[in-house]
Amino acid sequence: MCGIVGYYGKRNVPEVVLNGLKTLEYRGYDSSGMAFAGKNGLSIIKSVGKIKELEEKFKNNPINGTVGIGHSRWATHGVPSEVNAHPHIDCKNKIAVVHNGIIENFMELKNELIAKGHKFVSDTDTEVIVHLIEDNYTDNFEEAFKKSVPLLRGAFAIAVICADCPDTIFFARMKSPLVIGIGRGETFLASDVVAFLDYAREVVYIDNGQLGFIKKGKISMFDFDGNPIKYKTSMVLWDAEMAKKNGYKYFMLKEIYEQPECLAKTINGTIRNNDFYLPNFNIPVEHLKKIRRISIVACGTAYHAGFLGKYFIEELAKLPVDIDVASEFIYREPIISDDTLFIAISQSGETADTKEAVVKARKFGVKTVAVTNVVGSSITREVDGVIYTNAGFEKGVAATKSFTTQVLVMYVIALYLAKIREMISEETLLEYISELSSISQKIEIILQHKNIENIKMIARMYQNCRDFLFLGRNVNYPLALEGALKLKEISYIHAEGYAAGEMKHGPIALIDENCPVVVIMTKSKLYEKVISNVKEVAARKGLVIGIASEGDDTAKTVVKNLIKIPDASPYVSAILSVIPLQLLSYYIADVRGCDIDQPRNLAKSVTVE
Ligand code: G6P
Repeated sequence: MCGIVGYYGKRNVPEVVLNGLKTLEYRGYDSSGMAFAGKNGLSIIKSVGKIKELEEKFKNNPINGTVGIGHSRWATHGVPSEVNAHPHIDCKNKIAVVHNGIIENFMELKNELIAKGHKFVSDTDTEVIVHLIEDNYTDNFEEAFKKSVPLLRGAFAIAVICADCPDTIFFARMKSPLVIGIGRGETFLASDVVAFLDYAREVVYIDNGQLGFIKKGKISMFDFDGNPIKYKTSMVLWDAEMAKKNGYKYFMLKEIYEQPECLAKTINGTIRNNDFYLPNFNIPVEHLKKIRRISIVACGTAYHAGFLGKYFIEELAKLPVDIDVASEFIYREPIISDDTLFIAISQSGETADTKEAVVKARKFGVKTVAVTNVVGSSITREVDGVIYTNAGFEKGVAATKSFTTQVLVMYVIALYLAKIREMISEETLLEYISELSSISQKIEIILQHKNIENIKMIARMYQNCRDFLFLGRNVNYPLALEGALKLKEISYIHAEGYAAGEMKHGPIALIDENCPVVVIMTKSKLYEKVISNVKEVAARKGLVIGIASEGDDTAKTVVKNLIKIPDASPYVSAILSVIPLQLLSYYIADVRGCDIDQPRNLAKSVTVE
């Protein structure tokens, strides 16, 4: 979703801002713009479409300044257009603002400002910010900014520059992420650290209710009442290389191939010496022993990881688990007793609905845990404990390595709770733990050339199909949902995931000789039942693509196309089976010529409700 970049320093300011915007392209956007303040006042450039169009425009009209801000916009209020693109400016063309989030009281403020004579040109909520600051500005811009920000309601991360102070960037945050990067003699502001990873590793995470300015590189921070705040710096451990494609056609493919390494890191971050190692979990064992229910909330792919967590926890730890999509959870009336453990899963740690769900859960007095990939993300500041997924920076909009690492963490949580609740023998636990060390190697096998060629061939065969069905039972049911989500996200083919046993209650009507049905049919206690489902599909001329365990001789007799994965326990198998699903979607989208890393209308992290 929308991205913000700001820069003050010795480098070419437009170049740094433009590069930052390019790095943030993965977030999803439909228009972009930049503003600079310098000795010639304020200059602005905007464009609809890709950042390269903004770059082209900039080449023909090279503007510059001593400070700059940039923005990539994902439309909420007002269609994608140049007028609605940020930066927005005041009536006197002196002040420019970029904003992520939604200003909830913008109509009220807008009416007041219009009554005072301000001229609005866009349909956005953002424009109100710049006129509000203009209205409060007489001779001291800092004061005008400090006075204006607390009048805004809603979610916002904002960056502002003014022609009268061309050495300063002003910023404020409420609910939408914003971070400062400190380099050598240069300072950055961005909605995401990756925008400046090439230049700076020391960062200041701006918190909700904080505002301030970067003047000649010096940072000053205040709360919304104007009281000065001491800020803390921390170091980002992510490597700038992670934000590069390294020869892969798309980030999604690179990230699929990174999974063996990411999973190894996640195992190392949660299990050491055959025992659990959860340094940030922070929930005392005594408390966990009293837990009687688990509530899991997430969105999108993370929801599917949570759904798998439900199967794992119920089966291994014998605890009932509720699972909700966050946008539903926050607006229904859940019944949560204080013996519940609440788990929110979010790759980015910034998804607005998931964060709100944590806030809601806390009101019930329960302990909350986040499973996230981003250290310092907003959600980590809302919860009692965190488990990091250690997947590294994920840039592909379609989540891949974040999913497998989330599933792994949910499995570790299930085993941990099983141990604490004495639901698992020491011997079985050790067996499961030791199996984890084989995951990376098994994924490497799935990624071998001959297997990839098989998946590519299947992708070519079915690239023009209009609909796909994905079926699975038990732990393979959430995988069917994830397989269908991946395909529709990046290839725009309609796909539905279903519990295989439920097929007879509806989707079977869709099956004919044009409908591929992907069945996750790895060895499990329900294997025989899945084979029956496959036969039901085949009897209606459906085209079955089976994902089956190595050594399964029955599978090849009942399906049209077979993708084999190494044999494993059902839990580990759930992690392995998703890899062919990711690859199948990827190669179908690729042969269809889709823009895989920037699928239409999607955003990597949905920071508005
Ligand atoms: C967006 C992304 C999905 C992601 C979901 C949840 O919809 O496109 O890939 O699964 O948000 O994101 P989170 O960062 O909370 O895991």
